[in-house]
Amino acid sequence: MLIPLFLLWLAGECFAKIYEDVSELPGLEYDFVIVGAGAAGNVLANRLTENLNFSVLVLEAGVSNEGVIDSMVPLFVNNLLSGPNAYEWNYTTTPQVGLNNRSIPYQRAYILGGCTSHNGMFYTRGSAEDYNRWATLTGDSGWSWDDLLPYFFKNEKWSPPADNHDTSGEFNPAVHSTQGINSVSLSGSRWPIFENQVIQTTRELPDEFPFNLDYNSGEPLGVGWFQSTIGNGTRSSSATSYLAPQFIQRPNLHVLLHAQVSKLVGPQTAKGVVSFEGVQFSQGGSLFTAKATKETILSAGAIGTPAILMNSGIGDKNALTALGISSVLDLPSVGQNATDQPTFFATWAYKNATLFNEAYAEWNATHTGPFTNLPVTHIAWTRLDADSPIFKNVTDPSAGPKTPHIEIFVGTGTGFGAAPTGNSMSFGMVMLTPTSRGSITLQSNNPFDPPLIDPGMLVTDFDIFTARESVAQAYSFVQAPVWKDYIIAPTPDLSNMTTDALDEFIRNNAYTSGHIVSTAAMSAKNAPYGVVNPDLLVKGASGLSIIDASIMAATYVVAERGADLVKQRWT
Ligand SMILES: Cc1cc2nc3c(=O)[nH]c(=O)nc-3n(C[C@H](O)[C@H](O)[C@H](O)COP(=O)(O)OP(=O)(O)OC[C@H]3O[C@@H](n4cnc5c(N)ncnc54)[C@H](O)[C@@H]3O)c2cc1C
Ligand SMILES: *[C@@H]1O[C@H](CO)[C@@H](O)[C@H](O)[C@H]1NC(C)=O
Ligand SMILES: *[C@@H]1O[C@H](CO)[C@@H](O)[C@H](O)[C@H]1NC(C)=O
Ligand SMILES: *[C@@H]1O[C@H](CO)[C@@H](O)[C@H](O)[C@H]1NC(C)=O
Ligand SMILES: *[C@@H]1O[C@H](CO)[C@@H](O)[C@H](O)[C@H]1NC(C)=O
Ligand SMILES: *[C@@H]1O[C@H](CO)[C@@H](O)[C@H](O)[C@H]1NC(C)=O
Ligand SMILES: *[C@@H]1O[C@H](CO)[C@@H](O)[C@H](O)[C@H]1NC(C)=O
Ligand SMILES: *[C@@H]1O[C@H](CO)[C@@H](O)[C@H](O)[C@H]1NC(C)=O
Ligand SMILES: *[C@@H]1O[C@H](CO)[C@@H](O)[C@H](O)[C@H]1NC(C)=O
Ligand SMILES: *[C@@H]1O[C@H](CO)[C@@H](O)[C@H](O)[C@H]1NC(C)=O
Repeated sequence: MLIPLFLLWLAGECFAKIYEDVSELPGLEYDFVIVGAGAAGNVLANRLTENLNFSVLVLEAGVSNEGVIDSMVPLFVNNLLSGPNAYEWNYTTTPQVGLNNRSIPYQRAYILGGCTSHNGMFYTRGSAEDYNRWATLTGDSGWSWDDLLPYFFKNEKWSPPADNHDTSGEFNPAVHSTQGINSVSLSGSRWPIFENQVIQTTRELPDEFPFNLDYNSGEPLGVGWFQSTIGNGTRSSSATSYLAPQFIQRPNLHVLLHAQVSKLVGPQTAKGVVSFEGVQFSQGGSLFTAKATKETILSAGAIGTPAILMNSGIGDKNALTALGISSVLDLPSVGQNATDQPTFFATWAYKNATLFNEAYAEWNATHTGPFTNLPVTHIAWTRLDADSPIFKNVTDPSAGPKTPHIEIFVGTGTGFGAAPTGNSMSFGMVMLTPTSRGSITLQSNNPFDPPLIDPGMLVTDFDIFTARESVAQAYSFVQAPVWKDYIIAPTPDLSNMTTDALDEFIRNNAYTSGHIVSTAAMSAKNAPYGVVNPDLLVKGASGLSIIDASIMAATYVVAERGADLVKQRWT
C-alpha cells in the first residue's frame, strides 16, 4: 500500500527528539549532559548514543535550523553574518588596538548546528605538522596526523559536486572518505575562464604558486581546488548530518533548544578533585537543573565554554573573586591565549557578467548553478620567505616547513559570500599563524551577561608583517601573464601604497575569520598551564570534560576522537 508522503513526514516528526520545551522531556537526569549543539556537540550526541545503554541530553541555547533558507543555500552565507539576526549571539569585541581601536562584530551562531550552520563551509584540515606538534606538546601520540586520519574519515562523506562534473585531477581520492557523515564536495558550478586562469597561474609561476592536487593531504602548500562542507548543493552542518533523521530518532538521544546553560552546579571536593552534579540552565525565564551521572561535556564553543567555566568558579581565582564569584578550581588559563586568524580582501575590477536572479531560480529549481557554492574556486597556501626580516625578531610560529603562514582564497565576486556580479574578483587573505593572543573574560557575576571578547587582532609585529606580505603575494599572483586581459584595475590599489598607508588599510579593514580557538587549551598532563589534559578531562576535576574549539582547532575531528575517549572511560 502507498503511504501518503505527509504521513511519513509526520511520523518522522513524532520520533524526532528535538524538543522546544523542557516540560516535554521525560526527565532531567542523564548519563551525559552535553552543553551546546554545534560542531562538537552534535558529533558527541551522535557517537555516544550509538551505545543504546547511554542516555544523552544536549542543551542548546539557540533556535531550530529547520527551514532556515539562509543556512541551506551556500551562497547566502553572508545573510547570516552581516549583522544581528535571530540566529546570532550578536557579539561585539572590545576595542581592538591592532584594528585602530575598532570594536568589530564577532559572529557566533545561535542555532542548532552552531557555527557549522552559518560558517564559510571551507573544508580545510591543516598540515600534518600541526597535528604532530600537538601530539608532541601534549605527550599523546593519539593527536598526531596519522592517528587522527581515521577520525577525519569518520567525519567526511566525500560527495559528488552539484553539477556532477568530472572531478578527476581536482582532488586525491586516497586522502578522502566517502563513508563518513558530513558531506564534503568540490564546487558544484564552473567559472571556466576564471578557473583556467588560476590553473594557468600555477604553470606560469610554479615556484611561488605550484599546483597542489589536494591541500587536505596533510601537505597543503600550493594552489588547490576549493573543497566545501556541501552536499547536493546544500550546506552540510552538524545538525543536518550528525542529527539526520536516522540518528535523532534514537530513543536515548534528546536535544533541547532554547536552553541556555549558566553554570555547573553542586560542586564537591574530595581529595583535591572537584566534581559537579550537572548544570543549571534557563528557559523561558525559569531556571532548571540537568544532572549528569557519568559526565558533563562542555561543547559551547570557544566563547561559551570559558564563560560557563568562569561562571562556575573555574578560572583565575583572583579575577573571579574580584567579580564576586567563589573560586572552585583555580585554573588561570581559562579564557586566556585566545587565538583568531585576521582576514581581509584585495579586490579587482574584472571583465564578465552573471545574472543573480537566473542563478537563484536555478538553485530553487534543481539545486545547481552558481548558488551551490561560494564564489571561491581555489585556495593558495603560502609561506613567508625563509629569509624574511621578521625572522630576525621572531621565531617562526608555524609547525614546520610544510605548514603555511598565509591562506589566499581566490574567487570571483566581491568579498566573502557576496553574490558574483561578474565584474569583480577578490582574494581573501587569512593569517594562519598569528602570534597575537587575546582573552575571554567576564564583565560581571551575572551568567547571562555576555562575556568580554578580546581576540587580540593584529597586535604583534609578526602579524602585521604577515598581513602586508599576504598582499604582496596576492599581487604577484595576478602578475602572471594570463590575467593581463581580464583585470581592469585593483580597487583600491594596494601595491603602490606606503607601508604606513597599507598598515592603515589592513587595520581598518581586517576582521575576524571566525576561527577563535584555545580559550580552554589542552596541554600535557603535568604542564603548568592549560585547562584540559590530553584525555579532554578538566585538570583537577572529575566527570567534566571539554570537547570543542576551546581546546584546539579541527573541531569535528577533536570531537570524533573525543567521543571515543569518553566511550572508553565508560564501557
Ligand atoms: C563566521 C564564521 C566563519 C567560519 N568559517 C569556517 C569555515 O569556512 N571552515 C571551518 O572549518 N570553520 C569555519 N569557522 C569555524 C567553525 O565553524 C568553528 O570553529 C566550529 O563551529 C566550532 O565548533 P564548536 O563546537 O567549538 O562551537 P560552535 O559550533 O560555535 O557550537 C557551540 C554551540 O553552543 C551553543 N552555546 C553556547 N553557549 C551556550 C550556553 N551557555 N548554553 C547552551 N548552549 C550554548 C551555541 O549556541 C552553539 O550552538 C567559521 C566560524 C565563523 C563564526
Ligand atoms: C549494555 O548493557 C548491557 C547490560 O549491562 C551489557 O550486557 C551490554 O554489553 C552493554 N552494551 C554496550 C554496547 O556496552
Ligand atoms: C540577536 O539579535 C536579533 C535581532 O536583533 C534577535 O532576534 C536575537 O534574539 C538576538 N540574539 C540573542 C542571542 O539575543
Ligand atoms: C587606541 O586607544 C588607545 C588607548 O585608549 C590609545 O592610546 C591609542 O592612541 C588609540 N589608537 C588610535 C589609532 O586611535
Ligand atoms: C564569463 O562569461 C562567459 C560568457 O558569458 C561565461 O561562459 C563564463 O562562465 C563567465 N564567468 C567567468 C567567471 O568566467
Ligand atoms: C542527495 O540527494 C539524493 C536524491 O535526493 C539522495 O539520494 C542523497 O542521499 C543525497 N545526498 C546527500 C549527501 O544528502
Ligand atoms: C599560553 O600558551 C603558552 C604556550 O603556547 C603557555 O606557555 C602559556 O603559559 C599560556 N598562558 C596561559 C595564561 O595559559
Ligand atoms: C527562490 O525561492 C525563495 C524561497 O524559497 C524565494 O524567496 C525566491 O524569490 C526564489 N527566487 C527565485 C529567483 O525564484
Ligand atoms: C625587528 O625589531 C627591530 C627592533 O625593535 C625593529 O626596528 C624592526 O622593524 C623589526 N623588524 C620587523 C620586520 O618587524
Ligand atoms: C596608486 O594607483 C592608483 C591607481 O591604480 C592611483 O589612483 C593612486 O593615485 C596611486 N597612489 C599612489 C600613492 O601612487
